[in-house]
Amino acid sequence: MRTDVDYARELDRADPLARFRDEFVIADPDTIYLDGNSLGRLPKQSAARVREVVEQEWGTRLIRGWGEGWFTAPQRIGGKIARLIGARDDEVIVSDSTSVNLFKLAVAALHARRGRTEIVTDNLNFPSDVYVLQGACKIADGKLQMARSEDGISVSTDTLARAINANTALVSLTYTAFKSGYVYDMRAVTQIAHDAGALMLWDLCHSVGAMPLALNECEVDLAVGCTYKYLNGGPGAPAFLYVRKDLQEGANGDSPLQNPIWGWFGQKAQFDFDLNYAPAPGIARFLTGTPTMLSLAPIETSVDLILQAGIERLRAKSVQQTEYLIALWEAWLAPLGVSLNSPRDARCRGSHVSIGHPDAWRINRALIEEMQVIPDFRAPDNIRLGIAPLYTTFAEIHEGMARLRRVLVERVYEKYPATRAEVT
Ligand SMILES: Cc1ncc(COP(=O)(O)O)c(C=O)c1O
Repeated sequence: MRTDVDYARELDRADPLARFRDEFVIADPDTIYLDGNSLGRLPKQSAARVREVVEQEWGTRLIRGWGEGWFTAPQRIGGKIARLIGARDDEVIVSDSTSVNLFKLAVAALHARRGRTEIVTDNLNFPSDVYVLQGACKIADGKLQMARSEDGISVSTDTLARAINANTALVSLTYTAFKSGYVYDMRAVTQIAHDAGALMLWDLCHSVGAMPLALNECEVDLAVGCTYKYLNGGPGAPAFLYVRKDLQEGANGDSPLQNPIWGWFGQKAQFDFDLNYAPAPGIARFLTGTPTMLSLAPIETSVDLILQAGIERLRAKSVQQTEYLIALWEAWLAPLGVSLNSPRDARCRGSHVSIGHPDAWRINRALIEEMQVIPDFRAPDNIRLGIAPLYTTFAEIHEGMARLRRVLVERVYEKYPATRAEVT
């Protein structure tokens, strides 16, 4: 592949999604943002929407706002996210954080599969997910089984299959691994869980908005995901959860899966203020408390942008961009001792690429502090380069990688201390 900047510009000119970059606030065009996989950029329409909610809806409509679209926002926005993940619009709802939603569904799954005591996960999972699963096991007398990756990048379907058995209540994995970007075979792993009589839960944080997902087609039972990465919902924006329709409500209105955190937003006829809990129909029973409207509102405008761009086209561009980035790594960085810590095969790679170096922490600091390149660091030696196909350009990837090469060749990183402090 060509490594000259003219080639990057050619690719940008041929990009059918190029116009979407203008939909974002780009405060400093010289800053190369490769961290949309942690916190997406701000869409201009979302900034306008937040102003509207604060000044018009809250400012002038006051509590009447609840009847004018606030109440239904978790379902309405969930329905839009459903289109991105191959689910029905009444199977997804926006609420709480990913961690809290995972807790709700993990406890519900352990309860629904009474008699079975194990949850299976793997050591590529996001630590917060592991903590949540450990906590769920602790209160429900369960046990967490951890399948192990051999290379730190991927886990084979066979390895997972060996960990799943007749005592497994739930298999819970992160579909795109947070560090390596490895993407599982959703259909095959879900099938293995089902064959053993277990429920399957996927964490979609690093997948939603970057690639098409087919939850219904793969017969996935449960899923959670965040909205602040590729969905560009804003810092701390609420997360979503998915429960397959037939698991939400049994024939007589009871549920095979019970939300363990009962609250009035998950209550049938909440304004009757009955003192006995009775779950609301459908997916709403997985809500607990009042929706965080100021954080919810901008998710909708951001998801609308993704729907306009088209998730298939976004995936096509993401694959082309990660391939391009890896070609530059091979030409420029591999000879300087930088490893590729992501899968080489695009079919099992998400939208970020991880590279490794013993001085990754210092290199990352040098990039942020004097090169205007923002990736992120993941211990012990990993730099994640996130590509958000809605706004990342090929020219940015070219320039970002060129600056990274300069940091290495000129040993710019050596003046930074090896001790870690900041978030990225
Ligand atoms: C894969 C994954 N799961 C879960 C979380 C935790 O999300 P939250 O802080 O919204 O609970 C994150 C956060 O980055 C994540 O990347």
